[in-house]
Formats: sequence, C-alpha cells, structure tokens
Amino acid sequence: MNHLISPSLLAADFGNLERDITMLNQSEADWFHLDIMDGVFVPNISFGFPVMKYIKKHAQKPLDVHLMITDPDRYIDNFHESGADILTIHLETCHHLHRTVQRIKSLGMKAGVSLNPHTPVNLLKDIIADVDLVLLMSVNPGFGGQKFIPNALEKVKELKQLITEKKSNALIEVDGGVDYSNAKALIEAGCDVLVAGSYVFKSKNPKETIKGLKKLTF
Ligand code: DX5
Ligand code: ZN
Repeated sequence: MNHLISPSLLAADFGNLERDITMLNQSEADWFHLDIMDGVFVPNISFGFPVMKYIKKHAQKPLDVHLMITDPDRYIDNFHESGADILTIHLETCHHLHRTVQRIKSLGMKAGVSLNPHTPVNLLKDIIADVDLVLLMSVNPGFGGQKFIPNALEKVKELKQLITEKKSNALIEVDGGVDYSNAKALIEAGCDVLVAGSYVFKSKNPKETIKGLKKLTF
C-alpha cells in the first residue's frame, strides 16, 4: 500500500483556519489529523467539539482524531457526532481497551490505539487483531514541534512483525517530529501513515512539503 499523509492541524494558523483547510483539501494530504488534548493526560489543552465540527464542515478528507484525554469512553459519542472518521485513544488511558475499541467500531468509525514513547509494543498482542490503526508516538504527547525520538523506528519494525504474526490489518501511524530526515526510514520500516504538523505548516510551501512527504523526495 502507498503510504498516507495526515497533516496535524495543531500547527495550523487558527486565525486563518479556513485557508489552511482549503490548502489541505487541494493538497495531496490523505487525512486531517486533529489533536484533542485535555490538560490532564497531557500538559496542554488544544481545541474541542465546536472547532472540530467547523473543520468537518469544510474538510473533504477523513478526520483522523487523536485523543489525548483521560477517560475517553465518556466522549466517544460526541466525537462521533463531531465528525471523527478514525478515532484513536491512548492505551495508557483505558482500563477496558477491548470494550472501548468495540464501542468505537460499533458507531462506524475506525478504531485506533496509540502508545506513548515508553509503552512497549507487545502490550498490543491481544488487541492488535481488533484495531484498524496503531499510532506510535515519536515524541511525548502534548506539543507540536518537538524532536523525534529515534527509538520509534525500532517500534515500527516490532509492530510490523506483530501485525504480520497476528494477521491483523492494522495500519501503523507515526506521530511527532516527522520530517525529511526520518520519513523515508519510517516508511521503509513499515509505517503506513505519517503525521506531520510543524514540518508541513511552518514550511514555505505546505502543499509542496506534503507532496515531498508523499513521494519521499526532499
Ligand atoms: C503531539 C501531537 C502531534 C503533533 C505533531 O502531541 O500528537 O500530532 O501535532 O506535531 P509535529 O509534527 O510538529 O511534531
Ligand atoms: Zn497527534
């Protein structure tokens, strides 16, 4: 499968949000990555349902929603109503991960599970067959613009093995500090979806940057 690009709107200009959404619609981006932070699970607060609904109204591509919130079960219906197509929760926030994954899928969304940099891949072995996506954090979640943690590359390889072994269809997504210096290696290691915030939105020509990530030419 050709890899996908999911630019993170956390790095967009919220004063010109419609302009940035239009840019993504016209670009080779595959998904819109939305980071939802609650100030408890991560030391930052991003945006909530009204902003998400606005993005949904204008986006012509699937919303890839990354929840960095405690007790995500409380809000699954709201995220569904606000337009999430893929809903990813953190393993570290769920007591009953299997139930939460089934609940997300029963509403017609794709279910993703995310791992913090310190969380081992093998904790997924009994859930991997049920999930549509695994999001590996390559920075500590909470902020854009951080430095890529190189160990993520090893985790991609390990996860790819687990997926093959368990005959899972899960996609591997990598999030945090993704740029020209690591994108190619991540794809070669088995990553299917690259999230990029600062690298896209802080570049001179975001559309060209997305094109470069898609073709892996820099
Ligand atoms: C971090 C978020 C990321 C972030 C990525 O907690 O999950 O999606 O927006 O931003 P960059 O690409 O700037 O590291
Ligand atoms: Zn994210």
